[in-house]
Amino acid sequence: MSVRRIVSHIAENTGLRSPLLRLCSSEFRCNHRLVKSLSREITEAGFEKICRRREQYIEATRKYLELDRYLEEVVREARALGLLDSSGLRVLDMGCGAGYFLYTLRKYGHDILGLDIDNYIFYNEIVELLKIPRITHQIEKFKPLPDLGEPFDLITAFSICFDCHGTEHVWGVSEWEYFIDDCLGHLRPDGRLFFCFNPASTHVFDFVPDEVEEMLRKIPGAHLSHNKEKFLLDYAKHAIV
Ligand SMILES: C[S@@+](CC[C@H](N)C(=O)[O-])C[C@H]1O[C@@H](n2cnc3c(N)ncnc32)[C@H](O)[C@@H]1O
Repeated sequence: MSVRRIVSHIAENTGLRSPLLRLCSSEFRCNHRLVKSLSREITEAGFEKICRRREQYIEATRKYLELDRYLEEVVREARALGLLDSSGLRVLDMGCGAGYFLYTLRKYGHDILGLDIDNYIFYNEIVELLKIPRITHQIEKFKPLPDLGEPFDLITAFSICFDCHGTEHVWGVSEWEYFIDDCLGHLRPDGRLFFCFNPASTHVFDFVPDEVEEMLRKIPGAHLSHNKEKFLLDYAKHAIV
């Protein structure tokens, strides 16, 4: 039996049809090739030296040493946002961490800027290694973002921590309304905001308060995913309403 027929047989008889079809899709293969090439470049830039110092890094950042795994996520998100089929967009990533997302976008000709606190040695070292332009700033409730220069086509935040999730200070409706409004002031008229809430250890996003969920779902031109992980706001559609 040929490999193709064996795979097809397994797919049909084990309920693995969708995952196997995804693995065989051209998008998956394209993403995989891109991950391998980014990973090779980052390794050649000196990633191994940083890995050797892994004991210095706190547990929360050490997982980002699994380069290919994180690049896969980054490439998937970048493609879903149409950033691998475009170039020349000005993009701000808040809480940019190691900067893998921005590194990928720069390869596609986007104009990138990261914003983060500088408390974590690992993030600082990788950002420096990858030469990611980064503004050091701590996002706090009811405090405006700093001067960020020209407005952006896209403002992102992945695995958000600045909302103090999992604590008694978790952001409520007013904090989020203030923050989103502030972000909109840094967007071009046809720009987009894209936020991913932190999956924490449970991946159920139950720390997004119900009132916040309700408010986010009502924002014109915005969409919050069913599981509350992803929030996308299209400024042009927002402004029409
Ligand atoms: C879970 S990590 C996610 C890193 C990156 N966005 C990613 O998805 O790989 C959270 C990031 O938010 C940053 N961060 C936490 N609190 C922050 C704050 N108040 N203001 C700005 N950045 C913050 C951390 O330094 C870290 O880079």
